[in-house]
Amino acid sequence: MSKTDTKIRPAETIVFPHKEDIPENARLKLPIHQTVWLVNGELREWKGPFNTVLSPVCMKSAKGLERVEVGSHPMLTKEAAVEAVESAFNAYAGGRGLWPTLTVKKRVESMLLFVQGMEQKREEVVRLLMWEIGKTRKDAEKEFDRTVQYIYDTMEELKDVNRENAQLQKEEGIYAQIRRSPLGVALCMGPYNYPLNETFATLIPAIIMGNTVVFKPARFGVLLIQPLLELFREHFPKGVVNVIYGEGKEIIGPIMETGKIDVFAFIGTSRVANIIKRQHPKPNRLKSVLGLEAKNPAIVLPDADIDNAVAECLSGSMSFNGQRCTALKILFVHESIVAKFNEQFIAALNKLQPGMPWEDKVGITPLPEKDKPAYLKELVDDAVQKGATILNEGGGAMQESYFHPAVLYPVSSDMRVWEEEQFGPVIPIVPFRSVSEPLEYIDESNYGQQVSIFGKDPNRLVELIDPLVNLVCRVNLNSQCQRGPDVYPFNGRKDSAVATLSVHDALRVFSIRTTVAFKDLPMNKQIVTNVLEGRKSNFLSTDYIL
Ligand code: G3H
Repeated sequence: MSKTDTKIRPAETIVFPHKEDIPENARLKLPIHQTVWLVNGELREWKGPFNTVLSPVCMKSAKGLERVEVGSHPMLTKEAAVEAVESAFNAYAGGRGLWPTLTVKKRVESMLLFVQGMEQKREEVVRLLMWEIGKTRKDAEKEFDRTVQYIYDTMEELKDVNRENAQLQKEEGIYAQIRRSPLGVALCMGPYNYPLNETFATLIPAIIMGNTVVFKPARFGVLLIQPLLELFREHFPKGVVNVIYGEGKEIIGPIMETGKIDVFAFIGTSRVANIIKRQHPKPNRLKSVLGLEAKNPAIVLPDADIDNAVAECLSGSMSFNGQRCTALKILFVHESIVAKFNEQFIAALNKLQPGMPWEDKVGITPLPEKDKPAYLKELVDDAVQKGATILNEGGGAMQESYFHPAVLYPVSSDMRVWEEEQFGPVIPIVPFRSVSEPLEYIDESNYGQQVSIFGKDPNRLVELIDPLVNLVCRVNLNSQCQRGPDVYPFNGRKDSAVATLSVHDALRVFSIRTTVAFKDLPMNKQIVTNVLEGRKSNFLSTDYIL
């Protein structure tokens, strides 16, 4: 296919601001030097080295374009990181600590105070999301609000679970009360693309189920946790939440080698997850909750509603510049409609406005990872060398932290972008003749998170739905891939995930069903009646939380 005749875009499509161009609603007093970390119930001053946080947003200065300095945060030594594990370990105290033995009602009350405090920090966190990772204001607000809602939903869900478990069962002459108990010490590490939401999607359920935690913020989006540190300190007992900062390679190994981590909650790459897991001396003790890579494809059938398919594929591949694990990362389009699809896709892409995160209607923003533009360029160059064309004018143009989206066509199996998870604004389009082609692609892939299928004929769609549900974990019909709503299961096959997350499932993965059982003997009944009537136990209890 020849290049489309859509409007020509100049190579340099983004305009970085001067200091005085920053609007009032994006201003922050920068740089923010965070000098404390949270350990053993104390916001402790760090005396060691610090890391400088640079924004994806560059500013024009006399020296040219420069990334804005957002601030700095501590870089802990391995000794300090291990101290955080000891703090969480001591707070758990072999299950005898204050937090793991507290009633669910009291844990929910602590979480409520935390989230109410968090809501007061919305604007500060939203602005830091814009400055630290280049997320648009709209998406940053969505991330914050979604996280707050997730916390409220989690509290309600736990109350529901607790109510369901408030009764005793009797089978084969044995009474039992079955409840969910915590697992121990959890290490929670989140990703930079959702440094608040995805991190809290494991951190909050881990805490509320009675575990104690060591929490390491993501690679980028670190300072936005600072406004919440005092809330963690204030609303949870000493040692329940410990927040550490530093170079993963330096501090995570020593943490694992202590053998004191019971749950490893991590969103990142399978390569790193495998390295970290191997460092634990007791593999069976370590439970993993992992969100890993994905290469979600779209399959656009000949009878698809092209307007809808284009809109969903564009949003699916370009929201937050393609930096979502659920992003559509390869588009299979039937050869009979691919020319029309490409033309409409490029026209729609050209309407996305590059700009600063705080600008109204902005659709594409600079990238936080320093080496990302160069990596994306490698992918594009490789594909072009092997026969693909960049369909959109200016596609692949780079300016400091900015990479202008590149639509590649036709993409084939010998190109790196066929397999590699680009996690950025590169959109490979593959023409296909038979649906067996995308099906084979998914079957052979290392990943198995989600897929989007576009078409109208129910019979043809079912021919895809039925095999696809055995290859991935969510089949999206005429809609892009996504994690939400958060009450739905979020998971994956192969190297895409370990364990299922949702408001309900996360409570399960951070706990284990535990039973108190007794034979139907007068002595036992008398003991248990005494415990229940006297409200003597936090576990063996028929109390209802309203
Ligand atoms: O990065 C992966 C996120 O879980 C995606 O979530 O589909 O809501 O953007 P989302």
